[in-house]
Amino acid sequence: MQRTHHCGTLRESHLGQTVTLCGWASVVRDQSHQMFIDLRDRSGIVQIVADSDLNAEVHGALAGVKSEYCLQITGEVVRRVAGKENPKLETGNVEIRVDNAEILNTSKPLPFELSADTRASEDVRLQYRYLDMRRSNVRDILEMRYKLTRETRRFLDSEGFWEVETPLLWKSTPEGAREYVVPVRSHPGKGFVLPQSPQICKQLLMVGGVEKYFQIAKCFRDESARADRQPEFTQIDIEMSFVGQDDVLELTQRLFSHLMREVKGIEIPLPFPRLTYAESLRRFGTDKPDTRFGLELTDISDLVADSQFKVFTGAIATGGQVKAICAPGVAAYSRKEVDELTELVKRFGARGLATFALGESEIKSNVAKFFSEGQMHAIFERTGANPGDLVLVVADQPSVVAQSLDFLRREMAKRLDLIPKDQFNFLWIVDTPMFEYDKEKHGFDATHHPFCLPNPEDMALFEAGFTTEIAKSDVAHPHARVRAWLYDLVLNGFELASGSIRCHRRDIQHRIFEVIGLDKEVAQERFGFMLDAFEYGAPPHGGIAPGFDRVVTLLAGIPDGNIREVIPFPKTSGGTDPLTGAPTFIPSERWSELGLMELPREEEN
Ligand code: AMO
Ligand code: AMP
Repeated sequence: MQRTHHCGTLRESHLGQTVTLCGWASVVRDQSHQMFIDLRDRSGIVQIVADSDLNAEVHGALAGVKSEYCLQITGEVVRRVAGKENPKLETGNVEIRVDNAEILNTSKPLPFELSADTRASEDVRLQYRYLDMRRSNVRDILEMRYKLTRETRRFLDSEGFWEVETPLLWKSTPEGAREYVVPVRSHPGKGFVLPQSPQICKQLLMVGGVEKYFQIAKCFRDESARADRQPEFTQIDIEMSFVGQDDVLELTQRLFSHLMREVKGIEIPLPFPRLTYAESLRRFGTDKPDTRFGLELTDISDLVADSQFKVFTGAIATGGQVKAICAPGVAAYSRKEVDELTELVKRFGARGLATFALGESEIKSNVAKFFSEGQMHAIFERTGANPGDLVLVVADQPSVVAQSLDFLRREMAKRLDLIPKDQFNFLWIVDTPMFEYDKEKHGFDATHHPFCLPNPEDMALFEAGFTTEIAKSDVAHPHARVRAWLYDLVLNGFELASGSIRCHRRDIQHRIFEVIGLDKEVAQERFGFMLDAFEYGAPPHGGIAPGFDRVVTLLAGIPDGNIREVIPFPKTSGGTDPLTGAPTFIPSERWSELGLMELPREEEN
């Protein structure tokens, strides 16, 4: 080995020992006859010192060292001169008096400063990701990522799961997101696709009797990148046989409690709370609520139904609703501040934002003329407003109200600093409707996907739906009331995982396809190989897939949930890789070799 110790591990207990270290020159201070270098390796930093009075040769050898030179040094661990300790470093009481130094490699001047709070743009950081990784915060994230995979494997192994690899060259099944296509030279015109998830494979593993499967699986989706989405990402993919919904939820929450304990040192009480999909939408306007703060949505439709404000009464008359959130302590918001919030909710289709401010002695409202004092007091009472609070109201169709107030709720929590740090609110969303009515096709679609089982308690409704006529915009139809055995795990307002108990019987699967109007022949062409497998004693089974990158992002506390920060080599928000320049043009002869025609190239900007 080229070294005896790691830089960040040296303490006073090492005093007097001769050590050999390797690493990078992080900070270099040349003070005439003394050179101080902060030597850094993966474990941390220790100060090394070369003194020309003590050892002129070594001092000379280190004289030209600059930032990020790669060094090997040997020397004695000594106590720092009194008053020169550095309490910010764990090694801050000691330094290494260098006896021997070798420059293993030089470094060009850096394109950006490698400090934790570097101001370099993301593009530059990703172009030089190998330098970016030398920053302590990126290194910490990579370490946490590794520990999370290690602990995932450890936990699932102890539960009897097998890690099984599934293919990356896979069959196109035109459902869900757009796929990456892989043309094949030996089969002109034909191709594989990269899997969006190992979903079908893991179900076939259950048919094959594997019973408990997991995989830390790469998934590919050709969709535009967002903060919480990458075209290539990782799932902790899990599937189990002979289980119902409770079994999967129970196993998954124990996995997360294990990860939180081992990696974050935090105990999370079990079981995680469960919210029904309907309750979540009603209280938070979203199916992935952040419950670290209040500001819940309150329905005030009944209180304003006989007001003079046409906007409210009109919304109610056309199937809409009027809902409010109560923002504490901002009754004195100026007109300008309210206008700003109004512009924000307009992005979600809201046509305006009504406000009711409960001052110490007076009520202020931008729609005061339409309401009696009594009506306004009823609104304050319903929303739990105290003197000094501001009630924000949106009236519209339910989806617009939900999206506007969900956004406003999160925005106000940020502005008012209501979100506690280091709190992890895991929760389950259950009882998602299996089908949703689609106006255009005047029929039902699968809310998530058609491959899960209806909740066994709703099988009678499911059957009744086949003999019930679909009325216009039907919410009362039995199929609209069937709940799916489908669940999402939410953490602090982000969807962390999604899963379901699968349909394992061909006859039920065909009934589900019938509801969503998927033709038998089309189904056979797309999923025939899976439906065929169901006919050979397929066991009841189900599973879940936490998005691993999102898990790391949330546990690492990355602001705004930007998953690029936790992926070793991510794509930019534009879906490109600044390090390699990919995607790059493919030479013409490669296209023809694959039996494909090249389109005229677009000019690159
Ligand atoms: P789903 O498509 O909901 O389910 O994905 C499961 C979880 O994967 C994460 N995720 C992503 N993470 C980063 N970038 C993306 N583009 C991306 N897309 C999804 C999310 C999400 O909750 N086969 C099913 C799972 C199952 O039913 O077992 C599936 O893939 O955290
Ligand atoms: P208007 O009568 O359109 O000038 O609106 C009067 C006030 O009501 C303004 O402050 C609007 O922002 C607000 N407002 C308008 N439409 C809505 C709506 N759909 N929900 C809530 N407030 C609204």
